[in-house]
Amino acid sequence: MNASSTRFVLAARVLHWLMAAMILSMLFIGVGMVASVSERHEWLIGIHKPLGIAILVLAVVRLIVRLRNPPPPLPVDLPPVQKLAALASHWLLYALMLVIPLVGWAMLSAGGYPVMLSSSLRLPPIFPVSPVAFAVLRHAHAWLAMLLFLTFLAHLGAALYHGLIRRDGVLPSMVGGRSK
Ligand code: HEM
Repeated sequence: MNASSTRFVLAARVLHWLMAAMILSMLFIGVGMVASVSERHEWLIGIHKPLGIAILVLAVVRLIVRLRNPPPPLPVDLPPVQKLAALASHWLLYALMLVIPLVGWAMLSAGGYPVMLSSSLRLPPIFPVSPVAFAVLRHAHAWLAMLLFLTFLAHLGAALYHGLIRRDGVLPSMVGGRSK
């Protein structure tokens, strides 16, 4: 991307919307999964694990795309505190997209459970078996997912504020093109 670009590169936009749908689905699948004791629990967990690992892989790709293609600059008249909030929340989202799947994977490893991506594809453990670590990671996974949901809500609110109130071209930069 050159310095005058007013929108994110195509790869960044595709990854943004694809991952938004995947992550939102994952949050609801996760909550539905732990709230269910029927055979639906097994079915949901069978979706949750491979989808979570796919999010981890895409988050790494997205981070590389982001580092190689600086985003369009924020509007010059945006108050510094809002610029700081945007920067901090974007990097928090990147961190959570990487850390939550890794904590989920580590939690299952600590519990001694196999991490199956399909009936024959098994991922190696990334944490030694430990009931205490399993309990800690289980709580960490749930709390980090809650933090991700809250950050997502703030992100959505900011996008609507830019798109509907300020109308400063920030929202179109992730959708299609900036209007000014
Ligand atoms: C961005 C990726 C992920 C998100 C947003 C996510 C979200 C969640 C949420 C919201 C819960 C419910 C927490 C609760 O209310 O207690 C959950 C539970 C769980 N997640 Fe994830 N998760 C992700 C990735 C993963 C991965 C990669 C794995 C494993 C490979 C995993 C394994 C689990 C397990 C085993 C549970 C608990 C199931 C149970 O106790 O029945 N998650 N996840």
